[in-house]
Amino acid sequence: MSESNPIRVGILFSETGDISTIETSQLMGTLFAIAEINEAGGINGREIQPVRYNPESSPGLYRVLAERLVLQDKINVIFGCYKSDTRKAVIPIIEKWNRLLFYPTLYEGFECSSNIIYTGAAPNQNSVQLAEFMVSNYGARVYMVGSDYIYPYESNRIMGDLVLQRPGGAKIGERYVPLDATEKDFKSIITDIQKVRPDFIFSTVVGDSTQCLYRAYADAGLDPREMPIASLTTLESEVAQMGFDVGAGHVSAAPYFQSIDSEINRLSLSNFRRRFGTDVVPSAGWEAAYFQVHLFANAMRASGSDAIDLLMPHLLGSEYDAPQGRIRIDPSNHHTCLYPRIGIANSEGQFTLVRQATRAVHPDPYLVTHSLGDWTLRLGATG
Ligand code: ACM
Repeated sequence: MSESNPIRVGILFSETGDISTIETSQLMGTLFAIAEINEAGGINGREIQPVRYNPESSPGLYRVLAERLVLQDKINVIFGCYKSDTRKAVIPIIEKWNRLLFYPTLYEGFECSSNIIYTGAAPNQNSVQLAEFMVSNYGARVYMVGSDYIYPYESNRIMGDLVLQRPGGAKIGERYVPLDATEKDFKSIITDIQKVRPDFIFSTVVGDSTQCLYRAYADAGLDPREMPIASLTTLESEVAQMGFDVGAGHVSAAPYFQSIDSEINRLSLSNFRRRFGTDVVPSAGWEAAYFQVHLFANAMRASGSDAIDLLMPHLLGSEYDAPQGRIRIDPSNHHTCLYPRIGIANSEGQFTLVRQATRAVHPDPYLVTHSLGDWTLRLGATG
C-alpha cells in the first residue's frame, strides 16, 4: 500500500463537551472502518489518513474547523456531526467550497443538500414507526421534553402531528431544557408530568444530560410499564450512562440496535471490541458512522477520485451490507434506505426488539407521506 500518497479525509466529532459520549462512539465507528479498509489494502492501494479535529460540542467550532479542513488541509470529504445545529453550521462551508459531508445521525428531516450524504434516519424511518407503536400500545396523549435547539423543536412538531391523527390524540406538554441540563432541571418537569399523567413521554433530550431525565423519572417512582419515555436519541450508549436499571422498560426507535440477530452484526461488534475495547458503547450513530466510510471507499474505488463531482455518481444508488441489513443511498434525495426498529431497554442495557421492518424503508425527508402506518410503505431498498 502506498503511504506516500494517502487519501486524507476530515473528521469532525466532539471528544469533549455535552455531546462527547455519543460523538466519541461515532468517531470510533469511523476509525474502525478506516482501519478495516487500510488493513485490506486501502483504496486502490492508497491508505486513508484521517485528519481529525475536536469541535468541543460547539456549533461555531464545527464551522471554523470545517473551513480549516477545506482551506488549510485541502480536504474534499468530511465525516462528522451529531447535533443538527452543528450540521447546519457546516453546510454553508461545504456548499460554498463544493465539498462532501457524510452525516451519520438521525435528524428532523426537511433538508436535502447535494453536498451531504445522510446515513441516519429521516422522520419517516423512526418517528412515524415510534408514534404508531406508542399510540397503539400506550395511548395518544403525549408529553414532550427536549433539549433547546432545532432537532427537538422539529422532531416534536412531527411527533405532535402524528399523534394528533389519532382519536383522542393530544399534546399535553412541551418543555425544553439547556444542553447541559442537570437532574434539578428535570425535577419540575417530572412534577408536571405526575400532575397531567400523559400516556407516554417523548424525549428529544440529547447527549450527556439524557441520563438526568431518566434518573429524575426513576427517582419520582414512575413506572415505564404504565407511562414510558419514548425516544429516538436514547440508545445503548445513553442507557449505559444512566445505568441499566434506570433505562429498563423505556422505548426507543432506531435502524440499528446491538441486539440485531445477524452474522454481520455479531462479527462487526466483535471485531470492533477486539480493536477498540469495550469502553465505547456502539449504537445507531456508531453503525452509520461505520458503514458510511465503507460506502465512501467503495465509491472512490470506482471513481479514482475524492472530488465530489466524480464521487457522487458512484455513491448515489450504492449499496452496502451494514450491520443493520443491506442499505442503499437513494439517488433522489441523498438519504439512505434503512430498517426501522422498535426496542424496549432491558436489564442488560440492551434493547429487546419488539418490532422491525423486514425490508428497508425508503427515506422521505420531507414527509410527503405523513401517516402513521409506515412499516410497509414504499418498501424495498433495492427495488
Ligand atoms: C440531532 O440533532 N440530529 C439528533
